[in-house]
Amino acid sequence: MSILIKNGTVITAQDNYVADVYIEKDRITTIGADLKIAADRIIDAKGKYVIPGGIDVHTHLDMPFGGTTSSDDFETGTRAAAFGGTTCLIDFAIQAKGTKMRDALDLWWKKGENRATIDYGLHMIVTDLPDAHLEDMNDMVREGVTSFKLFMAYPGVLMVDDATIFKAMRQTAQNGALVCMHAENGSVIDVIVRKTLAEGKTAPIYHGLSRPTTAEGEAVNRAIALAEMAGAPVYIVHLSSNDALQKVAEARDRGIPAYAETCPQYLFLSIEDLERPNFEGAKYVFTPPLREKWHQDKLWEGLRTNNLQVVSTDHCPFCFKEQKEMGKDDFTKIPNGGPGIENRLQLLFDGGVNKKRLSVNRWVELVSTTPAKMFGLFPRKGTIAVGSDADIVIWDPNVEHVISAQTHHMRVDYSMFEGFKVKGNAETVLSRGEIIVDNGKFFGKAGRGQFLKRDTYAGAWK
Ligand code: URP
Ligand code: ZN
Ligand code: ZN
Repeated sequence: MSILIKNGTVITAQDNYVADVYIEKDRITTIGADLKIAADRIIDAKGKYVIPGGIDVHTHLDMPFGGTTSSDDFETGTRAAAFGGTTCLIDFAIQAKGTKMRDALDLWWKKGENRATIDYGLHMIVTDLPDAHLEDMNDMVREGVTSFKLFMAYPGVLMVDDATIFKAMRQTAQNGALVCMHAENGSVIDVIVRKTLAEGKTAPIYHGLSRPTTAEGEAVNRAIALAEMAGAPVYIVHLSSNDALQKVAEARDRGIPAYAETCPQYLFLSIEDLERPNFEGAKYVFTPPLREKWHQDKLWEGLRTNNLQVVSTDHCPFCFKEQKEMGKDDFTKIPNGGPGIENRLQLLFDGGVNKKRLSVNRWVELVSTTPAKMFGLFPRKGTIAVGSDADIVIWDPNVEHVISAQTHHMRVDYSMFEGFKVKGNAETVLSRGEIIVDNGKFFGKAGRGQFLKRDTYAGAWK
């Protein structure tokens, strides 16, 4: 199968230019002006942007959490991702305490196999790391799992101590992988949470009020200090507050390889959403929590100045009915997480490019190119170049769209961005040279998505 995309404006992290893009089988083979090549299919992209497919490096599909499981699996989640212009994601396998990471990898491979409709990689969540198991990390790296997430929050469940984090970081200093940190001071938060509940404060807003920004700033600072001592880079996930951002910025100013992502929810929503009536605040319960509105401008500024390098979603959907409702009488029982895999490119384009906060090249860099570089997928993914996978989105910058649970493709009964009007949306989406979405219709197939082995010594090391 060959496809010729004609007359579009190719946008990469560096360039904008009008060109034709020719795809043979799964790769881009020629880019040039007015190409005269026969193709099985010709797509006229005049007036549209031709961008590398989005890469979402933080998703939780089919993830057990808080006595339930996230409502999108690898089939429904990757399908929804494709509708929004995301053609690749990196999900998280979770090592169960006392077990080998290999067991978790096998389990998550099974979750993805026969279901994923776009390509995907896996990070490994480390919950326990006795010295005898350090070799496990090298085993994962050999399988292409070249990043590890560790938690400074959720005591008794996922949280690990500083020694474990330091050991994991030292191991990555030797094997070229990357440690990703959930940075919140979980022990302090736990004390505040218990006091809050003892005072009879059980509503969703108390989830936000019991997780202060200082607890995030402190943990980010500590994570960076541990990485510095270990001689390894560090990547902070779902950064939500100015306190945390300042710690990353200070480290980067000193030349420390500290990196961070934020997510659309922190750019567009605020703690006030946790106060919505009729328990609807539960729809916005995730960690770190939503912050006061003024943090949003600071995060946008961080994206502009490159103190934040990536926008991911932390897509971790739980239905309002039955799942979020588990915490009706106790906010600590509300499963933590929110949906967003489908809306990342739309929101960033509208809030970033249309509102003149970001250039169109910076938008591509944040949602595709840097994620690919940071996590060992570049230049196979994350750019429009000869030899790269034909993961391409034809983006209509002028089409208007209203985000709604009535029309979205995520398997969840609400949208965090219900009613948001955005301009700009994915029109045609190609994954490895196959059209999987075209004008609102899905043409992909469950199981066509491939597991991606990722490189070591990727962007964070450079
Ligand atoms: O609330 C969240 N973020 N749920 C997903 C797990 C995590 O910490 O990323
Ligand atoms: Zn996390
Ligand atoms: Zn997450």
